[in-house]
Amino acid sequence: MLRFLKRSKRTVDAEAVSSHEVIRNLDAPDASSGPLEDHEKDVLAGVRRRLSSSDFDLPTSGDDPAKTMESHLLGDENLVGVGREVWRQITSTAATARALAGFMTDIDPERGEAIGRFQEIGKVSMLAMLRRESAGMPTCGTALVARVFGEGHERAGFALATAWKLPEEIAVVAGRHHDWENHDEYLQSAALASLSNRIDLHLSLGQQEHFENLTDAKELDVLDIPPDLFWDSLMAASCAFADAVQGW
Ligand SMILES: [Fe+2]
Repeated sequence: MLRFLKRSKRTVDAEAVSSHEVIRNLDAPDASSGPLEDHEKDVLAGVRRRLSSSDFDLPTSGDDPAKTMESHLLGDENLVGVGREVWRQITSTAATARALAGFMTDIDPERGEAIGRFQEIGKVSMLAMLRRESAGMPTCGTALVARVFGEGHERAGFALATAWKLPEEIAVVAGRHHDWENHDEYLQSAALASLSNRIDLHLSLGQQEHFENLTDAKELDVLDIPPDLFWDSLMAASCAFADAVQGW
């Protein structure tokens, strides 16, 4: 168990060294604070106009939805740093959700991985909108990107997952993965998405103590993991995180 913790911590520390070069977890609570440049206010206004009429950008799908997400996120040089960070987060939450599902009885690892992977699919749509609205403008900062994602990525997630004909469970969870406690039919799936998201948040930001406090997370009760396996399940997720982000 300690071996897992050390392994994870070493990777997190190594990641933290370059954190100033990378846009860190865009779901962090304070990520959207900070002033906007004038051109960023124009971009935000443009995105908001489209959100108000549910006019989401819905990039086309391919045979492999995961690869399609990757190509949409990394295939345009405009805001490619943001695309890389979103893909890192997606890779991480897919791996940690799969690891957590290994301790569950109702969701198998493959399904767990899909729930973890596609919860942030809405960011593909939001990034496309951001790229369109900011084309030809100076660089957009993290505060703007976090605001844009925060305001629309769940609604866009439901729209894009539906457009790509992903299973209803995936679309519904993507549409509300932060407010997970208000799910009825897909409560366990939403709890799994939420916990994998929180694990990524804490480990990617090097918040080891917050991560260890997740033994008290309500999601673990909902996942029906036996209490004596809470720590083991988190350690397995931590190990999966370390493997997923290795070399990132
Ligand atoms: Fe999210």
